[in-house]
Amino acid sequence: MPDTLTLSPDTAGIARAAALLRDGALVAFPTETVYGLGGDARSDRAVAAIFAAKARPRFNPLIAHVPDLAAARAIARMGAEAERLAAAFWPGPLTLVLPLAPGAGLSDLVTAGLDTVAVRVPAHPVAQALLRAFGGPLAAPSANPSGRVSPTRADHVLAGLAGRIAAVIDGGPCAVGVESTILGLGPEGPALLRPGGVPAEAVEALLRRPLHQQADPARPSAPGQLGSHYAPAAAVRLNAAAAEPGETYIGFGPGAADLNLSPAGDLTEAAAALFHLLREADRRAGPGGRIAFAPIPETGLGRAINDRLRRAAAPRPMGDTLPQ
Ligand code: TXA
Ligand code: MG
Repeated sequence: MPDTLTLSPDTAGIARAAALLRDGALVAFPTETVYGLGGDARSDRAVAAIFAAKARPRFNPLIAHVPDLAAARAIARMGAEAERLAAAFWPGPLTLVLPLAPGAGLSDLVTAGLDTVAVRVPAHPVAQALLRAFGGPLAAPSANPSGRVSPTRADHVLAGLAGRIAAVIDGGPCAVGVESTILGLGPEGPALLRPGGVPAEAVEALLRRPLHQQADPARPSAPGQLGSHYAPAAAVRLNAAAAEPGETYIGFGPGAADLNLSPAGDLTEAAAALFHLLREADRRAGPGGRIAFAPIPETGLGRAINDRLRRAAAPRPMGDTLPQ
């Protein structure tokens, strides 16, 4: 494949990106959470290319991105709770896992053969413009090699996928910085499948009932929620009150640190900075290096941050290779 184009987020750049997508090519684009690796969700060829570019296991289904509620209703069955959640949080960082609508027209590779589909309406103006210019649903996982740190800037995308995808639209840094919250809306009631950009507390307040939690992390109902993920090259230690010799220390709140997620102790600021600082700490720590993180409160966006950090610190699969 020729070099990956960097497109600007203007009308011409979006038109070029939409034309590439109509040709079955892959284009990375900014959303408010992280950059997504987009391909035509109706095309087996385009969706297969997404799995190949990321080296992602085929059993792990993708999120279908659509511009609005009407487009969501065309691919998924929206029950009463889904409609309430959509009215409150779409467009925005919330993904709903819903029964697939008859005649949805999605490639079976998007859903990995399940009878449910994960649907999201992103709020980022560039994502919105691209979806409208393309005129169909886009399958879009995070635009990073499978198992690695998610991208929140165009240069993060290029660091992992240059030469493997047709283009990236450079829309600057992502404002939320962690992926969408994923809710399952099955017959047993709403379940939190992945903490993310919409705090679970906000969902519970709207629905006026508690969310089921992921029961057994070893057997995740969001198939992507396997142990090691977001893995930097360095080893990661969590809940560290201070650095040990040789560690690169990432702080939260006031105090001495090599890098700080938010000197003010603000979780929104920390989420936005998380993946960039993880990459920066990895670069500073070098091969075989070690990174330590200060404790992060387990509330609001802190749940999504801690989820990503636990996965970054988890034991790596045998024979795992380090970032490409
Ligand atoms: O913020 C986000 O959600 C970003 C941006 C690009 O939109 N996308 C993203 O996609 O994080 P990805 O592929 O990295 O994560 C999607 C997650 C995976 O854990 C997958 O297993 C789960 O969604 N998922 C997709 N379809 C599902 C389904 N039918 N049932 C349960 N989980 C599903
Ligand atoms: Mg991902």
